[in-house]
Amino acid sequence: MPATSANLGPGFDVLGLALALHNEVTLEEAAGISVSIEGEGADHLDRGERNLVVRGVRSVYERLGRPFRGVRIACVNRIPTGRGLGSSAAAWLGGIVGANALLGGPLDRDTLLALAAGGEGHPDNAAAALLGGLTVACWSGRKVLALSLPVPAEIQWVVLIPEVQGSTAEARAVLPQTVSRADAVFNLQRLGLLLAALGAGRADLLTVAMEDRLHQPYRGGLFPWMERVAAAAGSAGSLGCALSGAGPSLLAAVGKGADNVARAMESALRESGIRGRAVVLGVDPVGTVWEAA
Ligand code: HSE
Repeated sequence: MPATSANLGPGFDVLGLALALHNEVTLEEAAGISVSIEGEGADHLDRGERNLVVRGVRSVYERLGRPFRGVRIACVNRIPTGRGLGSSAAAWLGGIVGANALLGGPLDRDTLLALAAGGEGHPDNAAAALLGGLTVACWSGRKVLALSLPVPAEIQWVVLIPEVQGSTAEARAVLPQTVSRADAVFNLQRLGLLLAALGAGRADLLTVAMEDRLHQPYRGGLFPWMERVAAAAGSAGSLGCALSGAGPSLLAAVGKGADNVARAMESALRESGIRGRAVVLGVDPVGTVWEAA
């Protein structure tokens, strides 16, 4: 399952980008629950009923009305947790796709996506992690309609990952229940422009197309260094920069000179008193892959 960066600025709870950084999950049926975790989150992730891979497995058994007796799970995690890079969507999907395969594949892709999005509460990371590429996801009743679009290869993606963790629940709690029509229109225009610009290969439009007024202005209080780092990315030549999902990571789109942008973002973060690293990541065009043992 790939890491994912949701929103890309204006596409709050809609857009997701799958990145070439992956978690791996191995599953087998067992009596009782056992979970081993290597890598990211090994020091703090739950290894029992509350583990998200376990919850994903259980959701498939429940959906199918099958008795759940237990599962043995081994996780190799490379996606940092609590950073707005879709580690929980990857965990849900690991359990859901794995359990479906263990049971002979009775659920179709749309049902797997609805289960993962339901577990998460929003569909953007789950769609990108399942389908790969740049995804547009939309709840319609209990279904999630999702499409994966190609991403221009000439755009490079820099992800700044602060050492501090963020909480999605907290980053959603600071958002207002209602927004002005002017702000809604501002985002609609940019979301349309972003998709059109990516489709037409007009990277020059991304600076405006990645602006947002629905979530980032409210989340700035949680991540006070965000504006400074985004400005540093812009001065170093990035085309556009946005909070990755609910933060604290930032995603920058770059035409040329991704390494320079990465170093500039790291320096600006450090000058704000926070440690972190910036990495250049390719897009994962495939999404979640299941391999039989
Ligand atoms: N769209 C969600 C949010 C993503 O911004 O809260 C959370 O990972």
